[in-house]
Amino acid sequence: MSKQIVAGNWKMNLDLNEANQLLQDLIKLEKKFNSNAEVVICPSAPYLSAFAEQLKDHSWIKLGAQNAYFVDSGAYTGEISPLQLKSIGIDYCLVGHSERRDNFDENYEMLAKKSKALINHDVAPIFCCGEQLQVRNSNVYREFVMKQIEDSLFSLSAEEIAKCVIAYEPIWAIGTGKTATADQAQEIHNLIRARLSSQFGENVAKEVSILYGGSCKPENAQELFSQADIDGGLIGGASLKADDFCAISNSF
Ligand code: 13P
Repeated sequence: MSKQIVAGNWKMNLDLNEANQLLQDLIKLEKKFNSNAEVVICPSAPYLSAFAEQLKDHSWIKLGAQNAYFVDSGAYTGEISPLQLKSIGIDYCLVGHSERRDNFDENYEMLAKKSKALINHDVAPIFCCGEQLQVRNSNVYREFVMKQIEDSLFSLSAEEIAKCVIAYEPIWAIGTGKTATADQAQEIHNLIRARLSSQFGENVAKEVSILYGGSCKPENAQELFSQADIDGGLIGGASLKADDFCAISNSF
């Protein structure tokens, strides 16, 4: 069975004091968070190591990075390796967020290498996919999202892909306040699971958590999470408010 997950993508927000404050606010809410859902936060990279220390006594919050390179070490100034992430106790890492695809030219091949490298170091990739508004309107969005997944994840083995999380984030819904309807999201989630099933088998497809992202908030999370193939959310703006993030975790 796939895990229920709420993951907060803090993006490039918050200075150290603000980030620490948010972490403390979340820790204080422990009893209020849904204990059936895996809670993951992805703060900016400079805070990961200190957060990992602070979370040693609060292991119900898992840490994720927002990006990693695909090589273990070497002359790659400014990059962070999966090996380094694992060495400080990171469990998850976002791969191929649309903001990275758009701003840093991350392509399908690179994302395949990143996913594989993370899995090799036992860091679960949260692989992001999703279409732009013009692709949605041109009605080829189903094929578009399937290709993103096939080209970057289908070189993995069944055992490897079972360790991945997939986040469907339609770009037109990110930071716009315009959420996909539950039906729109479920359609794609169902297609992703069916495609995983035809490629890797039904049991593997059932193992992979498929999250929805894009203006997910306490007001719409319940309807989204009640869909058969939606296993949780990748939350941007609303993850910067501890109470909202907690409320979203209680929307299953
Ligand atoms: P918002 O929740 O702010 O729309 O961001 C979604 C997102 O990009 C999460 O990765």
